[in-house]
Amino acid sequence: MLTLGIETSCDETSCAVLSGPDTIKSNIVSSSLFHHQPFGGVVPEIASRHCLEQMDVVYKEALKKARVRAHELDLIAVTRGPGLIGSLLVGVCFAKTLSYQLKIPLIGVNHLEAHLAANFIGEREPERYIGLLISGGHTSISLHEKRRMKLLGETADDACGEAYDKVAKLLGLGYPGGPVIDHLAKEGDIRAFPFTRPRLDNPYDFSFSGIKTAVLYLVRKQKKISLAFQRDLAASFQHAVVSWVVDKTLQAAEAERVSDVAVGGGVSANSELRLKLSAEAETRGIRVRFPSLDLTGDNGAMIARRGLDLFKSGSREGLRLTGNPGLRLDAAC
Ligand code: KG4
Ligand code: ZN
Repeated sequence: MLTLGIETSCDETSCAVLSGPDTIKSNIVSSSLFHHQPFGGVVPEIASRHCLEQMDVVYKEALKKARVRAHELDLIAVTRGPGLIGSLLVGVCFAKTLSYQLKIPLIGVNHLEAHLAANFIGEREPERYIGLLISGGHTSISLHEKRRMKLLGETADDACGEAYDKVAKLLGLGYPGGPVIDHLAKEGDIRAFPFTRPRLDNPYDFSFSGIKTAVLYLVRKQKKISLAFQRDLAASFQHAVVSWVVDKTLQAAEAERVSDVAVGGGVSANSELRLKLSAEAETRGIRVRFPSLDLTGDNGAMIARRGLDLFKSGSREGLRLTGNPGLRLDAAC
């Protein structure tokens, strides 16, 4: 069974060909990141125009790399949301046209579910697990059980990746902030700036606006932003954020008596999170899965994987499928 996965929710245009549930035959990603960098964040109009220009190119490249012809495809899976409406519509319209032309089924996929599903390419999906979704637009902890999910907590304000991006901007480190802070943090002192953990009624909710404001005041007090200051702040910020995320995730796993955790989204590439969560979980007999690094960002393979699951469980989409910018992780519950 060959599934074409199409992802255009934000600044990436990606197509992948997945053979069965586990074999990625191709996964082509074209990013417009470079064009957004002068603006310090994603410009929706630039992102959607780039998707439009790249869609057909990326599709052809994915077929070529997979050595597959269009008529050999069995299924098309496409991101239906959440994301930027202009970008989403490019992928959805392309997928609908292709499904009509090739006379093969079409599945609309929730981008957030797909980030978690990236863990199960080449791996069996556990019966019960805690999902930690941690990206530029979303941060949540969810319980997945027999293919049903329950949202346990989410961010009250900024997403974790967004906090990384904003802190990087305050430090003059450019966009996106996650990889550069992750890198600088390795050289800094985690005790240089102690940050207060936010108090929230629900132990599984997150809040990152306080730490962002604390960083703003620290930067304002600084006469000159030296490399040493950047390193120490990056290290202290990352240490605080990773500790909160690790504690909440494992608290949820223990409270729900779950022994598996799956992490997804752009921030799942973070080196400290990968180390700390895995190590801390191991001491408690919990197994944590992270996607391989090439599957942490937005990509078509994870869309194909989630689409195939939905197809197998009987889901079908007609040509009425459209983009839904505000789609939530718990939309289907
Ligand atoms: O999942 P993603 O590619 O896009 C969304 O769906 O949001 O996530 C992008 C986010 C950005 O905020 C970026 O700064 C963050 O993931 N990110 C990281 C790292 N690599 C990417 N954050 C922390 N550490 C990293 N190594
Ligand atoms: Zn994403």
